[in-house]
Amino acid sequence: MADIVLFVVFPYAAVIVAVVMSVYRYLDQRFTYSSLSSQLLENGMLSWASVAWHYSIVVILLAHLLAALFPGVWAALLGGGARLALIEATGMGLGLIAVLSMALFIWRRLANRRVRAVTSWGDWVLLVALLAQVVMGFIVAFAYRWGGMWYLHTAAPWLESLVRLDPQIAAVTPLPWLVKLHFLGGFVLVALIPFTRLVHIVTIPIAYLWRPYRIVIWNRRRA
Ligand code: HEM
Repeated sequence: MADIVLFVVFPYAAVIVAVVMSVYRYLDQRFTYSSLSSQLLENGMLSWASVAWHYSIVVILLAHLLAALFPGVWAALLGGGARLALIEATGMGLGLIAVLSMALFIWRRLANRRVRAVTSWGDWVLLVALLAQVVMGFIVAFAYRWGGMWYLHTAAPWLESLVRLDPQIAAVTPLPWLVKLHFLGGFVLVALIPFTRLVHIVTIPIAYLWRPYRIVIWNRRRA
C-alpha cells in the first residue's frame, strides 16, 4: 500500500499540482514567472556557480530524459565496455560539478548579507531540495554502478507505465532505499516548480546557454 502511495499516487499528484498551480500562477502573478536575479547584489560567486550548475544539470537531465523516452537509442549509445564506462564517468563528473555548484549557490546566500536578505523561505527549501537530489544522484551513480544500464530496466519502464496511465511499480519497489529516494526526489522537485523560482524552467530559457553573458549594472551613481 505504501509503495502504491509513493510510486503511483505521489507522482501523479506532483504532476497535477505542478500543472494546475503553474497555470494559476501564470494567470494570477505573471510578473513573478522568473528566477528574480540577485546578480546586482553579488556577481562573483554567482557567475561561477550559475554557469557550472546550468551546463551540468541540463546535460544530466537530458540524459535522464533520453533514457526514459528512447530506451532503445540510449541502450545503443551505451554499447558495452569502453563507451559505457566513458558515459558513466562523464555522468559522475557532471554530477560532481552539479553538487559543488549547488553548494556554492547555498554558501553564497548564507555568506552574503545582502543576498541573504532577499532570500525567501521558498528559495531555501528549493536550494536544499536540489542539493539533496544531486547529492543522492551522485551517490547512487557511485555506489550502484552502471546506473545508465539498470535505469533501462527499472526507472524507464516505471516512468513509461505512469505516462501510459497503467502504473507498474514492480521494477522499482525492490531497489535500495537511496535509489528510491532519488526517484521520489525528482517528483518532489516537480511539485515545487509552481511555488518557487524553479518556475523559470517553464519559460524554457534555453537560449541562455548560448546568448552573450548579460551583466546587470546600476544606472545611477552609488552613494
Ligand atoms: C524520477 C526521476 C529520476 C530518476 C528515475 C533518476 C534516476 C537516476 C539514476 C538511475 C541515476 C544513476 C545514473 C548513473 O549511475 O549513471 C541518477 C543519477 C543522477 N541524477 Fe537522477 N533521477 C531522477 C531525477 C533527477 C533530478 C530531478 C535531478 C536533478 C535535479 C537528478 C540528478 C541526478 C544527478 C546529479 C545524478 C548523478 C550524475 C549521473 O550519473 O547522471 N535526477 N539518476
